[in-house]
Amino acid sequence: MSASYRVFATRALPGAGFAELRQDPAFDLDVWPVDFPPAREELLQHVAGMDGLLCLITDTIDEAVLDAAGAQLKVVSQMAVGVDNVDVAACAARGIPVGNTPGVLTETTADMAWALILASARRVVEAAEYVKDGMWQTWTPTQMAGVDVFGSTLGIVGFGAIGQAIARRAQGFGMRVLCWNRTPRPDESAVVGAEQRAFDEVLSQSDFVCVSIALTNDTRNLINARAFELMKPSAILINTARGPIVDESALVRALQDGVIGGAGLDVTAVEPLAMDSPLLEMDNVVVLPHIGSASTATRGKMADMAVANLRAGLAGRPLPNSVGD
Ligand code: DGY
Repeated sequence: MSASYRVFATRALPGAGFAELRQDPAFDLDVWPVDFPPAREELLQHVAGMDGLLCLITDTIDEAVLDAAGAQLKVVSQMAVGVDNVDVAACAARGIPVGNTPGVLTETTADMAWALILASARRVVEAAEYVKDGMWQTWTPTQMAGVDVFGSTLGIVGFGAIGQAIARRAQGFGMRVLCWNRTPRPDESAVVGAEQRAFDEVLSQSDFVCVSIALTNDTRNLINARAFELMKPSAILINTARGPIVDESALVRALQDGVIGGAGLDVTAVEPLAMDSPLLEMDNVVVLPHIGSASTATRGKMADMAVANLRAGLAGRPLPNSVGD
């Protein structure tokens, strides 16, 4: 049987769904062979004539890519919940559905926000490096003393599914939880015992401020110099959402000037973070390489969802999960 669907996958995906896709004679699959994203020219070349596109957050899918693909492109399916790298409006204008992977990564990402809260508060990374560097000579009363997490106040900026999952975990630490969402979520906050507050109040009253909001034109640089000025000098900023929500130059200045106490970042304005970033020289900053959803199980589920979205789009069926639903 000759292949009926041509698909470009910008990377090999984990999971059973992708393995099946590779074997399926109905698909002519072009899989980008290495772990680095295709360069712009390579993306434009490989997408030409494709019926479907499987992509990742590292690929910019804009008008030029859609033009290069051609009018037969039926679906853009991204293995991620966030799609700020995809021009969703341009896809919609062409009638191309955009698939994403909500839900399955909620708890895994909330776990990572908590890993960053605890690591930043209790200086876990710094202390582990101290041991590895042979600095551990004895026990002293103030060695690597950090701040308490239990009994403190957690502020959550963006109270969607991930924000709520972060809040739920705070109950075990006896924390007061404050939350802000663009559209108030009274029912959801009541369920997890979080208090809805104005944006400024969440910033000024919290010991830990967790960013858990989608990146849009409205949220770009939402956490800026003004926001840092509102925060406590001891506050720790946690970001597991998208780097550009935080004004990174303002963050660096706030950390250098002691305006805030520290940061735990799973995401940065530009990824990967440049090795000469001042953030990498600060003991009170933990930076991770955007691994919030990176458990083997969750990444497998995300890939399966992306493949299911792709198959549905190619068959002209509604996607199980599409942006804008
Ligand atoms: C997403 O899904 O948007 C994450 O950033 C990657 O898992």
